Amino acid sequence: MRPPHPGRARTHARRPSTSWDHVASWYDRLVGDEGSDYQRHVIIPAALRLLNPQPGETFLDLCCGQGVLARALLDSSAKRVVGVDASPKLIDAARARGSDSRLSFIVRDVRRLGDLTSGEFDAAACLMSLHDVDDVDAALRGAAAALRVGGRLVLILMHPCFRVPRQSSWGWDDEKKTQYRRLDRYYSPMEIPISVHPGRTASPVTQYYHRPLSYYLNNLARAGLALSVCEELLTHRVASPGAHSRGENRAAAEFPVFLGLRAERVPAFAPPALARPTSAPANEPLRSDNPPTRPPLRRERSRRRENPRCRG
Ligand SMILES: C[S@@+](CC[C@H](N)C(=O)[O-])C[C@H]1O[C@@H](n2cnc3c(N)ncnc32)[C@H](O)[C@@H]1O
Repeated sequence: MRPPHPGRARTHARRPSTSWDHVASWYDRLVGDEGSDYQRHVIIPAALRLLNPQPGETFLDLCCGQGVLARALLDSSAKRVVGVDASPKLIDAARARGSDSRLSFIVRDVRRLGDLTSGEFDAAACLMSLHDVDDVDAALRGAAAALRVGGRLVLILMHPCFRVPRQSSWGWDDEKKTQYRRLDRYYSPMEIPISVHPGRTASPVTQYYHRPLSYYLNNLARAGLALSVCEELLTHRVASPGAHSRGENRAAAEFPVFLGLRAERVPAFAPPALARPTSAPANEPLRSDNPPTRPPLRRERSRRRENPRCRG
């Protein structure tokens, strides 16, 4: 089987924006000043741990939403924090929630960062958003260009191996008294609409792009970003007391909900040659400038009743 290709979808850069402008007020309320439950207990602490901010540093928050991470970074004595998001309404919300001379928010598509790509930032982060962007290649190359050599990029993602909207779920094995994670599909890239208010008619949707783990790792490498840390993040939630709680808590300690990655911009970058999978025909060249054809992106119809972004 061929690996999904690491993503050179230049044509995607002209596709419509995946901005959350149409759900901005809902998202701003969900996050509030301090962050949602998961942001406060898992996502922001992990992002700060991975970023390891130092006093006087400059930060770029990619797909910043209403600025929850950018505000947290000010506490680390940052010299400057710039948040960018494609949604003008979320940028307005970010400006309204955080006023500080070190903080600025810009409406910008991360697929085209423009004048932010001058290599001036010490660190950048993209929290819970890269799976909402159609062109990962453009976003990661832009992030790399925004960083100084040695600068860090931190990504927090829904864990692509265990959380595939509409394709993963929990199940209970009565015999083994075990909660298991069921995964119906994983390897195929999929475009999955997620209903903001599941069960309600005419609920707005946001687009989610599922890709397998190798897709993200290969795209980081192709953008000149060397992986230095990988943290698989478990939920902080505990099961309510009951017949299944022991099994549920054991499963919660086994199946991470989010994936945290830190990568550093390398000095000079030449795309690495891809190893030939043993199953590839011997005469087929596999080079990073001639990647294997990507499997077609599948479109999933939205029919789930819970918003997977908001659950464990
Ligand atoms: C799940 S929200 C996360 C926001 C924020 N990082 C947080 O943790 O609260 C995803 C964000 O990605 C933004 N976004 C999606 N596609 C984008 C793009 N191409 N360029 C910039 N922002 C984008 C959306 O507008 C939205 O604010």
